[in-house]
Amino acid sequence: MKAYTVAVVGCGRIACGAHFPAFEKLGNVRVKYACDLILEKAEAVKAKYDFVENAITDYNVALADPEVTAVFVLTPNYAHYTVAMDALRAGKHVMCEKPITVNYALSKEMADEANKRGLMLNIGVCNRYNKSVELLEEMNREGKFGKIYHVYCSFRDFRSIPGLGGAFTTKAQSGGGALIDWGVHFLDLILYVLGGAKLQTLTCDTYSEMAKDMKAYKYRSMHAEDTADVVNGVNDVDDFVTGHIRTDKASISFNGAWAQNLDQRDMYVDFLGDKGGARLDYGKQFIYCNGETLESTQSDHHIPNMYRMEDIAFLESTDTGVKNRNHIDNILESAKLLDALYRSAELHRELRGDEI
Ligand SMILES: NC(=O)c1ccc[n+]([C@@H]2O[C@H](COP(=O)([O-])OP(=O)(O)OC[C@H]3O[C@@H](n4cnc5c(N)ncnc54)[C@H](O)[C@@H]3O)[C@@H](O)[C@H]2O)c1
Repeated sequence: MKAYTVAVVGCGRIACGAHFPAFEKLGNVRVKYACDLILEKAEAVKAKYDFVENAITDYNVALADPEVTAVFVLTPNYAHYTVAMDALRAGKHVMCEKPITVNYALSKEMADEANKRGLMLNIGVCNRYNKSVELLEEMNREGKFGKIYHVYCSFRDFRSIPGLGGAFTTKAQSGGGALIDWGVHFLDLILYVLGGAKLQTLTCDTYSEMAKDMKAYKYRSMHAEDTADVVNGVNDVDDFVTGHIRTDKASISFNGAWAQNLDQRDMYVDFLGDKGGARLDYGKQFIYCNGETLESTQSDHHIPNMYRMEDIAFLESTDTGVKNRNHIDNILESAKLLDALYRSAELHRELRGDEI
C-alpha cells in the first residue's frame, strides 16, 4: 500500500473530528506537519497520533519541504484561498474543506491555478462520497426515477448557529451563513445526483433574525461554541434561507435554518420523479418509492465514513492524475450557484441566464 506524506493546516473541529480519524483508519498517511496558528492544537494531534511527526504554526515550513506532496487545508473559510494558493504555488496537491472559499471569483482563481500547474485541488463536499448519495446518483443514471422534475430540500435545525460572533457568522470571513455552510452540502449533492444541471433562473431570500442581539441569543448548545464572541464579534450572515432554482432538468426549492423557533431538526432531500421518488434522510439511508408497484423500500447498506473515502480518493488521484468527483472543476458550478443565490437575495429579485 502506497504511503502518502502530507501536511495538515488547521487542527480544529473538522480536522480532529473527521480527517485525523480518517488518516488513522487508512493507515498509509504520514502527517509530517500538523500546523495551527494555535500551537497547542497542533501539539495535541501530534500527542494523540503516532503518524503525526511535527507540530508547527507556520505552514510555509511544510510548503518548503519536498517530502510533502499534498496539503490538507482545514482552516476557516477565509483562509482557504490564501493557504491553498500558497500550497499550489509551492507545487503541492491540495485537499481543501468546503466551501471552496468565500465567493465564486476567488474559487475560479483557485481552479485556474491548480489546472495551470497540473496539480490536484479537491474540495471537501464529502456527501459525494456518502454511500446513499452514490446509490441515488446511480439509480438516477439507471432511470429508476424516470424524469426527476423537482427536488425539495430542508436543512433546518433548532439552535445551531456555529460560534456566534466568530468566523462562521462574520461574512467577510465565511462568505455567508446557513446557505454557504450547510446549503453547500445539500445543493452540491443535488446537482451531483442529477448528473449536473444547467442553471436557468433562481431566486433567494436570506434572513438574520435569531441572534440580532447576540448576548440575548438562547441556545442549548452552540456548535463551535469555543470560537464564539458575542461581546466583540460580528453576526452579519443568514441564519435562515429560502429559495427556488430552475434548471434544464429539475426545479429545486429549499429552506435552510441554522436556528429557528421550532424545536425540530428537518434534514432531508426529496427527489420527485415521474417513475419513482426518494427521500434521503441526510447523512443516513433513504426511502425509495416505486411509482409502478407503489412499494416503498428503505435502503439498507453499510455507510462507510465519507471523509475517509474522500481523503483516499483525493490521495490516489494525486498518483493517477485523474480528476475525481470532488475535483474543484466539478464543484465550481455549485459555488457559482451559492454566489448567485446570495446576489439574488441582496438584489431582492430573480436572476436569469447570464446574470447567474
Ligand atoms: N465537510 C464538513 O462536513 C465540514 C464540517 C465542519 C466544518 N467544515 C469546514 O472546515 C473548515 C474548518 O472548520 P472547523 O469547524 O474545523 O473550524 P475550527 O475553527 O474549529 O478550526 C480551524 C482551525 O484553523 C486554524 N487556522 C486558521 N488559520 C490558520 C492558518 N493560517 N494557519 C494554520 N492554522 C490556521 C485555527 O486556529 C483553527 O484551529 C471550515 O471551512 C468549515 O466550513 C466542513
